[in-house]
Amino acid sequence: MNIERVGVVGGGLMGSGIAEVCARAGSHVIVHEINGRAADAARARVESSLDRAVEKGKLAQSDLDSILGRIELSVDLTSQADRQLVIEAATEDEGVKTSIFAELDSIVAPDAILASNTSSIPITRIAAATSRADRIVGLHFFNPVPVMGLVELVTTLMTSSETETATRAYAESLGKTVIRARDRAGFIVNMLLVPYLIGAIRMYEAGVASREDIDAGMRLGANHPMGPLELADFVGLDTMKHIADVLFDEYKDPFYASPPLLTRMVEAGLLGRKTGRGFYEY
Ligand code: CAA
Ligand code: NAD
Repeated sequence: MNIERVGVVGGGLMGSGIAEVCARAGSHVIVHEINGRAADAARARVESSLDRAVEKGKLAQSDLDSILGRIELSVDLTSQADRQLVIEAATEDEGVKTSIFAELDSIVAPDAILASNTSSIPITRIAAATSRADRIVGLHFFNPVPVMGLVELVTTLMTSSETETATRAYAESLGKTVIRARDRAGFIVNMLLVPYLIGAIRMYEAGVASREDIDAGMRLGANHPMGPLELADFVGLDTMKHIADVLFDEYKDPFYASPPLLTRMVEAGLLGRKTGRGFYEY
C-alpha cells in the first residue's frame, strides 16, 4: 500500500508536528480540528516550525511553500473520507479517542488504516470502537515530532500483518526509527519515562530539592537534554496526568499514580508550557 493521502485528527502540539513531517515527506495531509480557532492555531504552529527551519538554513523558502501547500485544515471530519491513513492525535482521553475512531470508521474507505498517537491508552480499547480492528495500530511519535527520531509501532492481537507492514514503511519513510511494542499501557518509552517524571514531581512535592536543582541534577548528572520538571512542562501536565491515570488503571500499582501536586496543578489549569505556567513560568 503506497500511502500518499494522510489525515491527522487533532492539530495540537503533536498533531501539528505529525502533519509537518508527513507533508515534508511528500504526503498530502488534511488536519481535522474541533473549530476554526483551533485549526488556525494548528496551521500557525506548523508555519512557525517551518519558518524556524528556513531561518536556520535547513529548508528553502520554496520548499516551505510547497510543504504548506500540501497541508489543509478542516473542521469537518468527513473531509477525511479519501484518506488512506488517519493518525489521531487528539487529547489523551479514552472517550474522546473512541468517539473519533467510531466516527472515522464510518467515514473512511474499508481498507483505510486508522492509527492513534496515544501516549498510553491500550490500542485494543480504541480498536473496539470500530469495525476494522485489523486495520488499527498505535503510531506513537515523540515531542517535538520534527526533531525526535522515534516512532513506537503498537500492534494488537487483531492488527493484520499488512497493516503493520504498511504503517512501519510509512513511519520509516518519514525518517523515523520504528520500534515495536505489545499493546500494554505506556508501551515501551512511557512505561520507563513517565514513572521517572512522576518520581521527580514527588521529590519536588516532598521538598527534597528545588525545581532548578532537580532539573540540573538530571541535565548535568545524567546528560539528559531537559530536567524532568522541565520535560513534564514540555509534554503538558494534563497529558502527564492522563498517562499516569492510564498506567495506574492498567497496573493497579500506586507507583504510577498521579501525585497530588500534579492533580492540583491540572485542576488549576497550570498545564506547563502550553498555558504559560507549570513547574516554571514561560
Ligand atoms: N520543531 C522543529 N525543530 C525544533 C523544535 C521544534 N519544535 N524544537 C527544537 N528544534 C530543533 C532546533 O531547530 C535545533 O536544530 P539544529 O540543532 O539542527 O539547529 C535542535 O532541535 C535543538 O534545538 P534548540 O537548540 O532550539 O534547543 P535545545 O538544544 O534546547 O533542544 C529539544 C530542544 C530538542 C526539545 C531538547 O531539549 C530535547 O531533546 N528535549 C527532550 C525532548 C524529549 O525528551 N521528548 C520526549 C518527550 S516524551 C514524549 O514525547 C512521549 C509522550 O507520549 C509524552
Ligand atoms: P494538545 O492538547 O496539544 O492537542 C490536542 C488537540 O486535540 C487540541 O488541539 C484539541 O483541540 C484537539 N482535539 C480534542 N478533541 C478533538 C476532536 N474530537 N477532534 C479533533 N481534535 C480534537 O495535546 P498533544 O500534546 O498534542 O497530545 C495529543 C496526543 O498525542 C495525546 O494522545 C497525547 O498523549 C499524545 N502524545 C503527546 C506527547 C507530548 O509530549 N505532548 C507526546 C507523544 C504523544
